[in-house]
Amino acid sequence: MTTSRKRFLDALACRNLDRPPVWLMRQAGRYLPEYRALKEESDFRTMVRTPELATEVTLQPLKRFPQLDAAILFSDILVIPEALGVDYRFRDEGGIELERTIRSEIEVDSLTPEGAAERLEYVGEALQMLKKELGEEKTLLGFCGAPWTLALYLVEGGSPGEGRNLREMLYRDPHSARLLLKGITTACTDYVRLQCASGADAIQLFDSWAALCPSEFYEEWCLDPIRKIKEACDKPMILFSRGAANRLTDQVTVGTEAIAIDWATSLSQARATIGPNIAIQGNLDPILLETDPEYVRAAAANILENRKGDPGFIFNGGHGLSPKTRIDCVQALLDTIAP
Ligand code: CP3
Repeated sequence: MTTSRKRFLDALACRNLDRPPVWLMRQAGRYLPEYRALKEESDFRTMVRTPELATEVTLQPLKRFPQLDAAILFSDILVIPEALGVDYRFRDEGGIELERTIRSEIEVDSLTPEGAAERLEYVGEALQMLKKELGEEKTLLGFCGAPWTLALYLVEGGSPGEGRNLREMLYRDPHSARLLLKGITTACTDYVRLQCASGADAIQLFDSWAALCPSEFYEEWCLDPIRKIKEACDKPMILFSRGAANRLTDQVTVGTEAIAIDWATSLSQARATIGPNIAIQGNLDPILLETDPEYVRAAAANILENRKGDPGFIFNGGHGLSPKTRIDCVQALLDTIAP
């Protein structure tokens, strides 16, 4: 009998003949009452930094929804800025704030890329605990922010808007900008290596703000650093570049095993563009999971029909779940994919 893990790894290798594997970005989070209950006692950062708690939260969605094929480590892309020496916090009104901005050479020099991965050793511990729990049954996913997206958070000092400060820095002060990119890439490379060595079956790279990168910088700022990370990673990689489907042919050149597609991009067009040898992940609009099970079932059936017989398809949302996600909608989705 096939296991979730085998189904997932087969899909990453474009040779899955079973139903498509499924997981959901932000499958652990505020929409789950068991997550909110834990959060009464510990804040987000404590949960991320305590391997036992991170393990518990990672497993919450799998306990509630046994059809999920993969667990994704409970953490955040902002642990890299933190390990580089810039703290983050979530504002009460929503959104993210970093403790300071990084915009000049002196500020770039204040970052600590060497040894950043050692400061994230708690992630290695959480992954090892998770691997013990999941064994060969379920897939264990690690993840990291892509250097361009992390540079935006560091330069803008929080949620990046249009990325005006980093874009200005690219033109006015390319030297400091490149130093920044180099430091971030070093930290990400070491961090992904740590995750691979600690039991992750595959790694997703989140280039959530790829759409803000000026086209003349896309190769240098988005793709090249991801290539370096890919070289250091001995597990399959999934690349999620939100809003950047106009650059799918460029993304293919990185050589990741899978490309994740947002909700605004057609799966069949994406498949036609990237060819048959790279797995595709996506692309249900996560807003559907805030509506009604009836709409979810119809949309999921459409996606399944669209990708019928595709041996390299992984079902997911086109972006992460929001706190307004309805549990009955998630259940309806999973019952449609894995009845
Ligand atoms: O997917 C998972 O279940 C794994 C955990 C995970 C989180 N963040 C947990 C989290 C992952 C993979 C991330 C990645 C992440 N974090 C990204 C890339 C994916 C994307 O959304 O494009 C980005 C850009 C971030 C930065 C971040 N962290 C944002 C924008 C927010 C929301 C801030 C807000 O205003 O609420 C977070 C917080 C966050 N990360 C939460 C969770 C569960 C919510 C925190 C809480 O309220 O408990």
